[in-house]
Amino acid sequence: MEKSVTDAINYRRSVRVYKDTPIDAEKVKQCLKNAALAPTSSNLQLWEFYHVTDKETLNKLTTACLDQNAAKTAQQLVVVVANKSLWKKRAKANIGFLNKAFDKPNLEDRLVKRKKMALSYYQKLIPFLYTDILGILGFLKFLMFQIVGLFRPVYRQTRLSDMRIVAHKSAGLAQNFMISMAAIGYDTCPMEGSDTLHVKKILNISRNAEINMVISCGIRDDAGIYGPRFRVPFEDIYHSI
Ligand SMILES: Cc1cc2nc3c(=O)[nH]c(=O)nc-3n(C[C@H](O)[C@H](O)[C@H](O)COP(=O)(O)O)c2cc1C
Repeated sequence: MEKSVTDAINYRRSVRVYKDTPIDAEKVKQCLKNAALAPTSSNLQLWEFYHVTDKETLNKLTTACLDQNAAKTAQQLVVVVANKSLWKKRAKANIGFLNKAFDKPNLEDRLVKRKKMALSYYQKLIPFLYTDILGILGFLKFLMFQIVGLFRPVYRQTRLSDMRIVAHKSAGLAQNFMISMAAIGYDTCPMEGSDTLHVKKILNISRNAEINMVISCGIRDDAGIYGPRFRVPFEDIYHSI
């Protein structure tokens, strides 16, 4: 039986040594389907998941993960990729979805209005925000919004660096994956420590995409968790206003 959300969150730890026991790739894939249900900015879903089970590729990726313990004994690896350059394709997919969703006879005025607004969002606002040339347009938009922002609240995250953060922020929410794995008794370790250029070469990932993290997967060995969980006191990070 699957654990409850709270139990799964408590069970999840970063595991650095896995047992020799194989894990079911289909179950891991199902957890990735759960990951894909996480929210993403503008529902653009600027992410891709590479699920690696092939032994040779696993070995190559372990080297690219700087021979970290968390990768060495992993049964499978998942590479989460943030791919900002997919925005046009994803905006088009959203437009297609909206046209279908609102394709009903005698649509109420309120829904006609909603459809128009949603379509305009993907047809006008998203291209405006995501179109950039070497960061120059993004910077000009940023300056423009700084001026507008003197008079009213505006969206300011338009620079190339901001847009990268937006894509990574959403990809990071693939944390759903690790919780889903924990729910079925599978373990994971998110890894930032990797040579991302090598990871991209091994998996033939496009130049424009960026590695968000590599997640090792398996079943925890008794020595797989290095120590008790440490968190700073909750009061230090919690602000009730
Ligand atoms: C974005 C990110 C990158 C991380 N990179 C690594 C890594 O490269 N190697 C590693 O062993 N652990 C890595 N970790 C795991 C953290 O060290 C771990 O989450 C933290 O110590 C808390 O432990 P816990 O996950 O068991 O609660 C990473 C975690 C996150 C969220």
